Amino acid sequence: MSSPLVSIQNSAPNSQTLSIDPHSIRITVKGSITIPGDKSISHRALMLGAIAQGETVIEGLLLGEDPRSTAACFRAMGAEISELNSQRVVVRGVGLGNLQEPSDILDAGNSGTTMRLMLGLLASHPDRLFTVTGDNSLRSRPMSRVIKPLEQMGASIWGRKSNSLAPLAVKGQQLKPTHYHSPIASAQVKSCVLLAGLMVEGKTTVTEPALSRDHSERMLQAFGATLNIDTDTHSVTLTGQPELKGQQVIVPGDISSAAFWLVAGAIVPGSDLLITNVGVNPTRTGVLEALAMMEADIGRENERTVAGEPVADLRVKYSQLKACEISGDIIPRLIDEIPVLAVAAAFAEGTTVIKDAAELRVKESDRLAVMATELGKMGANISELSDGLEITGGRQLKGTEVDSFTDHRIAMSLAIAALNATGKTTIHRAEAASISYPNFVETLTQVLQ
Ligand code: S3P
Repeated sequence: MSSPLVSIQNSAPNSQTLSIDPHSIRITVKGSITIPGDKSISHRALMLGAIAQGETVIEGLLLGEDPRSTAACFRAMGAEISELNSQRVVVRGVGLGNLQEPSDILDAGNSGTTMRLMLGLLASHPDRLFTVTGDNSLRSRPMSRVIKPLEQMGASIWGRKSNSLAPLAVKGQQLKPTHYHSPIASAQVKSCVLLAGLMVEGKTTVTEPALSRDHSERMLQAFGATLNIDTDTHSVTLTGQPELKGQQVIVPGDISSAAFWLVAGAIVPGSDLLITNVGVNPTRTGVLEALAMMEADIGRENERTVAGEPVADLRVKYSQLKACEISGDIIPRLIDEIPVLAVAAAFAEGTTVIKDAAELRVKESDRLAVMATELGKMGANISELSDGLEITGGRQLKGTEVDSFTDHRIAMSLAIAALNATGKTTIHRAEAASISYPNFVETLTQVLQ
């Protein structure tokens, strides 16, 4: 896919360079687009479909590399999953407790969600041995955050670096009920413990310090599990050994993918873009609140509920952004959008401070360090804090050579920064975008007018 503005070169086997040169002509971001299915919901639909009784039909599945990793792992444990496509994927589940011992190592690829959620299921399947690994990035990401609560439930898990890094070996056990107080607001930790609790006789509770995305809770209930949710204390209690029945799941568009276009429309003068079918679950809409604080012109249209998840169309128009502070309880609700919000801040008047976001250091890359260096190379006035970023907007960005560090959200955030930079930006290892957004470059070409 290429246009006068956007081109892709194969720079090495399996590696691509994306070049964007907007100032060869004046551009705006216009039209109407749809975005790929929500990554978090896609993983959960495949997993719950795989362990439920009967057939689950998934419409709108994300075809990124991460859900492909989940599908491959659960196929290896006996679930029948039809060829992945975004229209209709059929999963024939094995039934609760019936995942088979795989004959080979399970590979979660780049996907933290696959590894961490799956560990809850593996640890609770007695008398089976599982080994799990992932790519370079995933093998350096902390797994102790899920191993610790699972051990509290009686799990047997071994890993590198004192049981904290993959590859991991899991000997399934009959687990016992627990109340886990998580020190971090993490949907992956919460979901791992709840999935482990499915096989437990009795109640499993997770309390988190702030509310993280609640897709697991919604989908577990839709599949037949009983959950008690205390919104004051951020606690979820699951009653074990439910009858899980296959369902129809309609996956909305991923607001984390929409975020790139929301920022593109907000920073490129003259823009007016409609993004249809975006999931607007309140546990995910921190990015809309942050952009509203920055005085972005974003409207919601056609609000509706689809298969238990709120959905809307979002329209963004250019406006001069203002700096803001992003910190506290909003952070888990916009955790994946911080790199692209840093790009928005580079075009806002004043100094934006992002705090309480140390979690970004253990994502697919150290997103605080990488955004500070790569956006800095383009001329942004950005500095790294121990748990965030400080960005003073207003400096004209200049196109240059930057690197994704094989992190999908970094690759796409830098591409959005390039739209309002002078000259050509070349993004190395841009193929990383396919983890969550396989047709990002096609949509980029489509919206530039
Ligand atoms: C996810 C939870 C978040 C998010 C990740 C997807 C999920 O991670 O960053 O991209 O689907 O549960 P944490 O739970 O580590 O915050």
